[in-house]
Amino acid sequence: MKIFDRKNDINTFTMEERKKDRTIGLVPTMGALHAGHISLVKKALSENDSVVVSIFVNPTQFDKKDDLEKYPRTFEKDIDLLEQVSDNIVVFAPTVDEIYEGNVASESYEFDGLDKVMEGEFRSGHFDGVGTIVELLLRTVAPDKAYFGEKDFQQLQIIRKMAENKKLPYTIIGCPIEREAHGLAMSSRNERLSKDTREKADFIYKTLQSAKSKFGTESATYIADWVQTEFEQHPLFDLEYFEIADENTLTPALKIQDNQKYRAFIAVYADGVRLIDNLRLN
Ligand code: PAJ
Repeated sequence: MKIFDRKNDINTFTMEERKKDRTIGLVPTMGALHAGHISLVKKALSENDSVVVSIFVNPTQFDKKDDLEKYPRTFEKDIDLLEQVSDNIVVFAPTVDEIYEGNVASESYEFDGLDKVMEGEFRSGHFDGVGTIVELLLRTVAPDKAYFGEKDFQQLQIIRKMAENKKLPYTIIGCPIEREAHGLAMSSRNERLSKDTREKADFIYKTLQSAKSKFGTESATYIADWVQTEFEQHPLFDLEYFEIADENTLTPALKIQDNQKYRAFIAVYADGVRLIDNLRLN
């Protein structure tokens, strides 16, 4: 498997591919790969001749130093996993210095308000950090298509907005959430949960499903209050936020309109680990 750590080298590789009329898919990741990431890689392989998987734990999107330090780094395992998937994958795994050239700071973005709610409210500067790294990766790799998971739905919408505002000529593709057998959304952070908490963490998805079953008959406020009470009664999980929001604007659904699509969004702490999930409601 080809592994590049220089921006120039991955750029030269993708330019050469393009000269051979080969299409390129990009899957940006922070490593600690699991079946959720692999589902994006497989989708990218099915739609492109070559797939670039970037592995880079991006410091500018972490609002807490501790979270950045504890982020799992499993490079060798990641490479083994990707090697099992296909020969048409190349990895771009740069250092922080190679990406930021001595200035580890975010650009400032206009996301038309998408960054002001939910994750943006609780993780200051997070989306400017995501915008900075994703724009850099897109411009460096110049893929035909780039793949992002609905697991981070707000991130996906923000990246779409950035691509639109900056008129970037790369197609942004959203991919469905992969879940563990009992329902917990797969995440690199799940590794940090105790066995017991991980087994019981289907509670998050089950609560989202119950919220969905109430949607249409109960108001968004009623459902939010109900979710809050469910979490207050659970000893293992602390609710940070639960929100029913419009899929496109991410604004809270105060009044439900038939022609709009809504999603429930949730952020929860368990064992000091922050977990997020979301579910389409209609
Ligand atoms: P990371 O958390 O590694 O996720 C990389 C990609 O995998 C994201 O698009 C994410 O939404 C997707 N993903 C993660 N878990 C998933 C699951 N269970 N099902 C489907 N897709 C899943 O998100 C990031 O990294 C970073 O913010 C990044 C975009 C790489 C920028 O640094």
